[in-house]
Amino acid sequence: MASVVLPVGEPEAETRAQRLATLLALPESRPDHPAYRTRAQAIVPAVVSEITVDRQQLPAMPMYALAILDLSRRIQMVEAAEVVATIARDPDTAAHVLKVANSPFYRGVSQLTSLRDAVIRLGRREVGEVAAVAASRFMFNLYTRRLRSVLPRSWYDEHAHAVTIALAASALSRILGVVDADHAFSCGLFLDIGRTFTLRSVCALVIEKKLPADIEQNVVEHILDELHVTTGEAALRFWNVPPSILEVCRDHHLDEPNHASREVHHLMRLTAALSMLKAGTPLRERYLGEVDYSARALGLDDPHMEVVARIIASMRKKARALLGDRPESTEVLSGL
Ligand SMILES: [Fe+2]
Repeated sequence: MASVVLPVGEPEAETRAQRLATLLALPESRPDHPAYRTRAQAIVPAVVSEITVDRQQLPAMPMYALAILDLSRRIQMVEAAEVVATIARDPDTAAHVLKVANSPFYRGVSQLTSLRDAVIRLGRREVGEVAAVAASRFMFNLYTRRLRSVLPRSWYDEHAHAVTIALAASALSRILGVVDADHAFSCGLFLDIGRTFTLRSVCALVIEKKLPADIEQNVVEHILDELHVTTGEAALRFWNVPPSILEVCRDHHLDEPNHASREVHHLMRLTAALSMLKAGTPLRERYLGEVDYSARALGLDDPHMEVVARIIASMRKKARALLGDRPESTEVLSGL
């Protein structure tokens, strides 16, 4: 299939990009400039060195997280008792599931006091997804408070982005009927995990005063964009994530995948690109190109895409409801 990535600067392509942006109700994005990319490329070698050091300190995936993430992949095939027993293995995850189940987002007429009640009221899939989101916190909370105090909103935004992709891919799979929803959910949680590990290295370099504390967000975005696929693949291999998930993550920015799950590939690519666009990424043209290509690959026309964009927006809200409040501070904390 010929690439339909929108070339920058051609009037026809610009018109299509603008039309797509209107159709998808995209917010304004931070404007990009070639100088940001140039600055990012000058920094990339230092970040790669930092990533190499950090990779040696990556902890094993906790057993409870492994079990809960595995549960969410086969949630339709397990009994309610197994759902409850698996989640109960980690008291923090169990408490988080109950807290979320009783939050305004889900609140029913009475207070839920047990995981079993939560499964009955919300259903296995919903509880499985909430538990997997809770278990996924270990990937985003791996590092010290000091590290996470650098660019604090970015850390939160990366987790919200991952949860948005997972929830939206699951919902879209069910609506479009093209992909197994539980597989799409699992792929979504891991798809852009390399962005978090790359962000960790950028923050470490800021703490070491090898990068300025006021590094521009667009420069950070170009660094994450450049390095996150290879960084993510290395982490997923270390954690023995199943090949069917790893290969989707590895190829998610390619026009066509090097694996057989073409529909999964395009659904995940479309979902991730739309999540980035809804978050106001400065790399707007690039992600619009991915959306355009993958929407065509899935046979989605404009009315479909309006629905898809509304689902992404709604899942962004749900992700924030599941994760709690976003840090207010945009400042780099003192004492670094
Ligand atoms: Fe990505």
